[in-house]
Amino acid sequence: MTNKIQQLVETAHALVAPGKGILAMDESNPTCGKRLASVDVENSEDNRRAYRELLLTAPGLGDYISGAILYDETLRQSASDGTAFPELARERGIIPGIKVDTGAKDLAGHPGEKVTEGLDGLRERLAEYSDLGARFAKWRAVITIGDGIPSRACLEANAHALARYAALCQEAGLVPIVEPEVLLDGDHSIERCFEITRETQNRVFSQLYRQGVELPGIVLKPSMVLPGKDHSKQTTPERVAEETLRCLRNTVPAAVPGVAFLSGGQSDLEATEHLNLMNKQAKKMQLPWRVTFSYARALQHVALTTWRGDKAKLDDAQQALLHRAKCNSAASRGEYNDRLEHELAA
Ligand code: 13P
Repeated sequence: MTNKIQQLVETAHALVAPGKGILAMDESNPTCGKRLASVDVENSEDNRRAYRELLLTAPGLGDYISGAILYDETLRQSASDGTAFPELARERGIIPGIKVDTGAKDLAGHPGEKVTEGLDGLRERLAEYSDLGARFAKWRAVITIGDGIPSRACLEANAHALARYAALCQEAGLVPIVEPEVLLDGDHSIERCFEITRETQNRVFSQLYRQGVELPGIVLKPSMVLPGKDHSKQTTPERVAEETLRCLRNTVPAAVPGVAFLSGGQSDLEATEHLNLMNKQAKKMQLPWRVTFSYARALQHVALTTWRGDKAKLDDAQQALLHRAKCNSAASRGEYNDRLEHELAA
């Protein structure tokens, strides 16, 4: 194994180390603005900076969080004491990462479908991000389930882009987080979500192979297998865990070190419970990869709504983030329970 590949493999393993998961805090400025607006905070550069400082300086965050995905602006910002964010993360034992796609855009000729852009100039951007301290990257593809969609064109275009991104990342020495998200929006059944997720992941792995991506040096960030949020019949958390694992076992090669889920609009508790059940079920079967979290909303939501831009609430907001991180860390071992969930309130 060359040194570069060895390094990638070590970073990928560190990202999915036992009891740890990833904090996604890579909202683009418009998305971060929406989150801030929901708690009446103005979308200014300094407010975005202050909020990200709150997250990264939560004391002991590195006990539960292996890596933090930052946004271009955030990677270049510093904490109030002048420490650059990537350095601040490293000091806390958290690996800094960077979102590198430039967003999901309408796919020409395919109404209602998206393709993620950002490949042009990516080699140069990755070299700069690496100089700024990033050790891994993220690219999110978005698949919508609806009447007659996703189309083959959409699945192929997104899988191809993910694989080209992943190959460029590995060339630059960065671990690619490969994120094909099948959206929760819609009224589809869990069976249909299973089918589409399996098809999506199969195409992604086929393209990763085609582009020569080293699977031991990636992390897969999939969505869980769930019924659409407008589906008439909801399902049990046990079934979600079962179907999600069944899908992954049919699609994800053993060489991949870990799977780190996105939360995708599930409530905080649902996201934790589903992860926990998967890891409980995993104890009865031998899974070749680790199963953990890479949540944005399901980790940040309570912290954001506790803070609301109020300096006096900073400690409480950090405790709220730590609590979710601790619960999800336990869930990544299949050891989450009610007592742990209610520990903070006690
Ligand atoms: P959510 O956990 O809020 O779905 O976000 C994860 C993410 O990184 C989306 O790209």
